[in-house]
Amino acid sequence: IKKIGVLTSGGDAPGMNAAIRAVVRACAYYKIECVGVYRGYQGLIEGDFKLLSARHVSNIINRGGTILKSARSKDFRAKEGREKAYQEIQKEGIDALVLIGGDGTFTGGMVFNDEFNFPCIGIPGTIDNDIFGTNYTIGYDTALNTVVEVIDKIRDTASSHNRLFFVEVMGRDAGFIALNAGVGAGAEEILIPEEDLGLERLLESLKRTKRSGKSSSIVVVSEGDKIGKNVFELADYVEENLPQYEVRVSVLGHMQRGGSPSCFDRVLASRLGVKAVELLLDGKTNLMVGLLNNKVETTNLENAVKGHHHINKELLRVSDIMSI
Ligand code: F6P
Repeated sequence: IKKIGVLTSGGDAPGMNAAIRAVVRACAYYKIECVGVYRGYQGLIEGDFKLLSARHVSNIINRGGTILKSARSKDFRAKEGREKAYQEIQKEGIDALVLIGGDGTFTGGMVFNDEFNFPCIGIPGTIDNDIFGTNYTIGYDTALNTVVEVIDKIRDTASSHNRLFFVEVMGRDAGFIALNAGVGAGAEEILIPEEDLGLERLLESLKRTKRSGKSSSIVVVSEGDKIGKNVFELADYVEENLPQYEVRVSVLGHMQRGGSPSCFDRVLASRLGVKAVELLLDGKTNLMVGLLNNKVETTNLENAVKGHHHINKELLRVSDIMSI
């Protein structure tokens, strides 16, 4: 292998730049070339490439977003698009790819590997933490800290006005962000897709909270939770049934994807980036690198996509006990 391509695809995540930097510098260390592919798979199809030297990735370890840009490419889902991508890769002389992203990114990589027998290694980068084969995805820790910081602020105003706040957080179909940030921010209740609390139990719990003398409350709702149709309808329902509460809603949205990565995410990205390059140089393919019990380990891309990363239900119990 003489030339490795690196791309970021799907939703961006803080720490993706640190991962790009690690891949580029590991390539420089092992004296092979590294090509940055812009806009994920779309850039692969369009041949949007730039040769990256170690100095091209100076001063990006601390930056949010991704210098390579990201996209959710529809064209790459079609065989025609992938064929075009393969031609561009051949033209550029790229021998292998490092794919930084989530399950959509890895699915694309698997199909591509199947069709063209092209070496691919995945690095998990998504704030959702919903990937099997790693305890943590790059960006998750930063997003948690962002959410906790914002909920701390919401708590100030909730407490001044004696209000109940529903705070919706990201995570797609997974409750990792809601559960961990909820515990970290001291939320009264945490609603996640993995556990159906039920509307009645939610009302009961909020009534109990009021009776116990609390004047303000925060309920963290994962965007994938199905208890209400959406967080606004849920808030309306609670206000109708519990007139003693004045309710407000805050949807945190894309701010959760931005900002400078935490030290944890930078270190994780650096470790996984180096390992991805080393695996390719070892002739390995179709694997994802991840962190399991603080060791860098590999998982088949297929398992990473199809396997289920379970939330830690122990945290729900802790949250219940804390909201006495
Ligand atoms: O996968 C990351 C994520 O931020 C999810 O939490 C969220 O559901 C989704 O991406 C939002 O996607 P988009 O930025 O395309 O609206």
